[in-house]
Amino acid sequence: MEKLEILINKEKIADCVGRLAEQIREDYRSKDFLMIGILKGSFVFMADLIRALQIPLELDFIQISSYGSAKKSSGKIEIVQGLKIRTEGRHIVIIEDIVDTGISLDFLLGYLAKQNPASVRICALLDKPSRRKMPVSIDYLGFTVPDKFIVGYGLDYDEQFRFLSDICIINEN
Ligand code: IMP
Ligand code: MG
Repeated sequence: MEKLEILINKEKIADCVGRLAEQIREDYRSKDFLMIGILKGSFVFMADLIRALQIPLELDFIQISSYGSAKKSSGKIEIVQGLKIRTEGRHIVIIEDIVDTGISLDFLLGYLAKQNPASVRICALLDKPSRRKMPVSIDYLGFTVPDKFIVGYGLDYDEQFRFLSDICIINEN
């Protein structure tokens, strides 16, 4: 049986989303702003963030696979669902749920660079720096978390637990 332990409660998440939205609003309010969410984990965070932002933007999603259904990344990245909106000349903010090894973001940054965007920055709700393999600079960060498996607020373990309002650590007993 899995045991869940709250790491960051929903009130703290809401405060954090408000703080990130304030920073991003100042930086993007008069820009050709495109937000790209990495599916599936970022969708809850992104939904809250765009409503806290209150500035015009367009958004799209990309799905890249690195995890399969296990807890360990395979290290091999594949685009499962590509972007459908113009990226050239636009100011892009990538929305990620959690940066772990950094392999997914490193791949995505390389992929986007070929499409000549005006700029690309990263907004991540969570950072798990202890397992980093590729250096990634996070421009807007919510929380740094320990080397534990995290679920809730969009994040899953084997497609489960995305619906939880709090960010939790999952322990297997
Ligand atoms: P990276 O390429 O290793 O940085 O992997 C990033 C992706 O792995 C994230 O977008 C998540 O989808 C997934 N991931 C990494 N750590 C966790 C975790 O603790 N819980 C849930 N998903 C995770
Ligand atoms: Mg993800």
